[in-house]
Amino acid sequence: MSTHNVWTHKGTFLLAAVGSAVGLGNLWRFPYLAGENGGGAFILVYALTIFAVGIPILIAETMLGRASRRSPIMGMQHLTHTHKTSRAWESIGWLGAASAFLILSFYSVIAGWALHYTWQMLTGSLAGADAETIGAGFDALLASPGLLTLYHTLFIIASGLIVGLGIHRGIESSLRILMPALFVILLVVLAYGIATGDFAAAASFLFTFDIAELSLEGWLEAMGQSFFTLSLGMGAIMAYGAYMSGEASLTRTAFAIAVVDTAVAMVAGLAIFSLVFGAGLDAGSGPGLMFVTLPLAFAEMPFGALVGGVFFILVLGAAISSSISLIEPVAAFLVERFDLTRPQAVTAMVVASWALGLLTVVSFNLWAEGTLFHALFGRSAFEFIELLTNIFMPLGGLLIALFAGWALTHGEVMKEMRTNEGWFATWRFLVRFVAPAAVAFVFLRSIPQVEGYLIPAIGALVIVGAFAAGRTFLAEPSQER
Ligand code: PFF
Repeated sequence: MSTHNVWTHKGTFLLAAVGSAVGLGNLWRFPYLAGENGGGAFILVYALTIFAVGIPILIAETMLGRASRRSPIMGMQHLTHTHKTSRAWESIGWLGAASAFLILSFYSVIAGWALHYTWQMLTGSLAGADAETIGAGFDALLASPGLLTLYHTLFIIASGLIVGLGIHRGIESSLRILMPALFVILLVVLAYGIATGDFAAAASFLFTFDIAELSLEGWLEAMGQSFFTLSLGMGAIMAYGAYMSGEASLTRTAFAIAVVDTAVAMVAGLAIFSLVFGAGLDAGSGPGLMFVTLPLAFAEMPFGALVGGVFFILVLGAAISSSISLIEPVAAFLVERFDLTRPQAVTAMVVASWALGLLTVVSFNLWAEGTLFHALFGRSAFEFIELLTNIFMPLGGLLIALFAGWALTHGEVMKEMRTNEGWFATWRFLVRFVAPAAVAFVFLRSIPQVEGYLIPAIGALVIVGAFAAGRTFLAEPSQER
């Protein structure tokens, strides 16, 4: 059954996709990864990947959603059927649903930290605090399963309520208020950073490009981040794409999403590092950058508590506009497949993901070490779940690129893209060959045993493999492609 749901306006898909893309990835993960990997060099690779790989896959994923007009799982069933391809391609939908479920479970816990800091900032509890106090506060938060569970629960319920209200009354109307407010707050925080911090140092850190800083590890990290930040490869964009107006341009929309998402990451980076350098703090402090270093910077600045509170509201809003896009693909599937009502479907997804989130909660305290996960995988449950999503997302992106690149015919793609032959050929080359090779690089990051020289060799293998996959696993070679 097709959902037949369509966004209210031609431009709503753009709003929703930007809401999904802009999130903890931009405000929390991007600045600390850039900080750890030498700033400018990292950003160069990140931006290149967004444009050469991210945008083509973004177009492909939206296209699969709009062409099927179904939730990712049902949509891929439909497309494999109508294109007479192997049913193995349906794994795109299942992989997406699994990743959405996994990501939501820990995303909600981390967004919960922002809830804690919003409260702390606005009540002025951190004003004037020193590094030790703030660091100890963060450690105490992580050490408390009760507090973490409380924040996790509040955040996931709020996300569920929005999606439960439906795509128009819930998702659209909340994004219409949330997104403009977020852009205003971001600019206020930037202005504050410029006024009270060291903007020149931030700009030179982020935009001075030193080739020596470009480690392979940082390079791969940048590519992984560009998938995460654009919400690629997991059905979120496909689910939203299923509601996209047939008139909106795929190419223009994809470019707009990527440009806005990148701009937000850059502005957030500039604002955060202005404050961090202004307070004489270290850029490379890892995941604690936002929850330890930044509160410390705010604690020392004039009106820091107020601006800090507003900043963490921004983080919360950005996180919630992303978490709803993790619920939608699975909820839509449950509605289509089992005829559940929307509130039932959302409840099922949210309760299951909430329960899994408890594993992330205890990974910071009760189960911080010595568990079965440590014995089997050498890491905590949270780190294991994160690792799984780091594998599933690029894998989903790879399969989406291959399916859109090889299974869809020239006519179908043209009907969706409505573009000239030159851009069509460029896009198809990118999704058939460049994106699969790039994804292979991202994968290799998780295999520490792979020596440097093996990487180009495996990259080449993947290109050949992509070609073979295209020929072998897709049906009807006689069909015009
Ligand atoms: N793009 C989001 C961020 O940058 O925070 C994270 C995300 C949301 C990833 C939705 C995947 C997804 F489907």
